[in-house]
Amino acid sequence: MAPIDEGVKPPNRSESFMEIRLLKRGEEVACEGILRALPDWFGIEEGIAHYVKALSSMETWVLETESGIAGFLTLHPYGNSAADVYVMAVSPSMRDQGLGRRLMQHAESILRDRGVEFMQVKTLAPSRPSKAYARTRGFYLKMGFRPLEENKLWGEKNPCLIMVKHLPCQKPEGIKGEAKLG
Ligand SMILES: CC(C)(COP(=O)(O)OP(=O)(O)OC[C@H]1O[C@@H](n2cnc3c(N)ncnc32)[C@H](O)[C@@H]1OP(=O)(O)O)[C@@H](O)C(=O)NCCC(=O)NCCS
Repeated sequence: MAPIDEGVKPPNRSESFMEIRLLKRGEEVACEGILRALPDWFGIEEGIAHYVKALSSMETWVLETESGIAGFLTLHPYGNSAADVYVMAVSPSMRDQGLGRRLMQHAESILRDRGVEFMQVKTLAPSRPSKAYARTRGFYLKMGFRPLEENKLWGEKNPCLIMVKHLPCQKPEGIKGEAKLG
């Protein structure tokens, strides 16, 4: 996830229903609401619009509870071997209850089944101090991602940290040879 601005726990006992499924048409609004509730990460209109567009143009998984959509994760593939967690967010009222972990584990499982070997996330590098993004990096580290490189993809002011995770999987029959990068 590009920085927009400076800036296994038990599930919530009150929520008995929980499902992770693909985003349906019209649900971008609920996801946008989650983005807007996280101004330390998604504080610029242009950035919000960009991510809302990505929700429907890319593969987006939503985590639904009795109260509605509580979080989402959007995947962007790089050929057959790698995929990016383009953006993910959990409603602040549902944070720290294991929902982010569930979304990430779901994405990993989907990708492993497809024979994808590497997952990547992009986030603000620690060379630009930010309490918000320190939390994000802490979550990614906990999820098994490791820093790979820092670059200037987002310019001098927003150093980008690429973190990667290897997914042990068996390539399904038929996925051989050079990956088409896209
Ligand atoms: C990052 C985010 C998706 C995590 O979702 P979450 O539901 O709050 O996280 P979980 O409760 O599933 O936490 C999973 C694990 O990560 C750990 N973790 C979370 N934040 C952490 C931190 N700052 N440092 C270390 N570990 C952390 C949790 O302790 C938990 O580990 P445990 O199960 O062993 O206790 C969510 O907080 C969020 O939306 N943040 C704002 C937006 C953002 O950063 N998006 C990601 C970049 S696009």
